[in-house]
Amino acid sequence: MTTKSAGGPLLSQDEIGLLISSAGTAPSMHNTQPWRFEINGPVVDVILDEARGLPAADRSGRLILIGLGAATFNLRVAAASLGYETTFATEPDPDRPDIVTRVFLGSRRSPTPSLAALYGELRRRHTYRGPMMDLDVPLRVRDRMAAAARSEGGDLRWLDAAGRRQLGGILRVADDLDLHDEDRLTERQQWVGGERDVEGVPADALGPLPIGPATVRDLSAGFERPGRGVAAFEQQPLIGILTTPGDRPSEWLRAGMALQHALLAATSYDLAVSFLNQAVEYIHLRSRVQELVGQGARPQVILRVGYPARASAGTPRRSWDRTVIQGRPLEAPRAR
Ligand SMILES: Cc1cc2nc3c(=O)[nH]c(=O)nc-3n(C[C@H](O)[C@H](O)[C@H](O)COP(=O)(O)O)c2cc1C
Repeated sequence: MTTKSAGGPLLSQDEIGLLISSAGTAPSMHNTQPWRFEINGPVVDVILDEARGLPAADRSGRLILIGLGAATFNLRVAAASLGYETTFATEPDPDRPDIVTRVFLGSRRSPTPSLAALYGELRRRHTYRGPMMDLDVPLRVRDRMAAAARSEGGDLRWLDAAGRRQLGGILRVADDLDLHDEDRLTERQQWVGGERDVEGVPADALGPLPIGPATVRDLSAGFERPGRGVAAFEQQPLIGILTTPGDRPSEWLRAGMALQHALLAATSYDLAVSFLNQAVEYIHLRSRVQELVGQGARPQVILRVGYPARASAGTPRRSWDRTVIQGRPLEAPRAR
């Protein structure tokens, strides 16, 4: 079966399955997978599923849009792997603010090989919360990650030793707040820990507890996780802060695309990445991170990057066919 459209490619059910299941491998805060997709001919709309928001930790909706930007980037990668060129628009329809991005599949004449090359990394990438090996990440590889972020409108800046120390102080305050904020604790418990089949972060994916001081976020901080192992973490973590020039929703979506492009580039070098986002989830602490990156750049995501010292478990996903609607009538879509 194929979808019909005037003037665009006809997508088969297999192609739709590949596109939507690929989009769904994107990272999202607490693995809420806050997306739905609507397909009409050659147009795929990425839709915000508000019921999957995190009102305690993400009141402004910034982090949820970063996840949706990442899912949009995956769609573009998967379309390129099928040979389609793509264009996209953010916030394409003023009457449908829930449609956050719209991806247009074009001809099969000139797909983007650099995007298609990332297809194999989509299902290899996952968030790693364990210790890294004491091995430097070569400058060339850090540059590749930064270039990937830049190509989507983001800026990935690596911290020097002084920056790491300053961030360490901010993280300690954030960790303490995380432990005592009842609303966030309750919200994290809804999504994190235990066994999870389709969404959320299962206990297995949380990684070991650090022995001694470590730069890592413990998502289960504040509630018990029985049987958890311990490990020594690296003492000189490589930390990058992903920024955008502004702080509007369209830039949050761009941040998600930049994040995902950089993560897939990292995966292609067998690097592992975890998030230190507690420092940008509290407004007053985000301002302190802002001082680290300077004016004219808004911190969106903080990453710890390295070669993983052990294997780790991934997170589950909803079945793709539960996230997609096909054949909705759509009037004259246009890229902006
Ligand atoms: C905007 C954003 C913020 C995130 N913040 C954190 C975080 O602070 N700590 C953490 O351990 N994981 C964080 N994650 C990672 C998610 O938990 C992870 O993407 C999700 O559980 C899906 O798992 P996967 O990345 O292994 O596919 C974040 C992801 C996104 C997109």
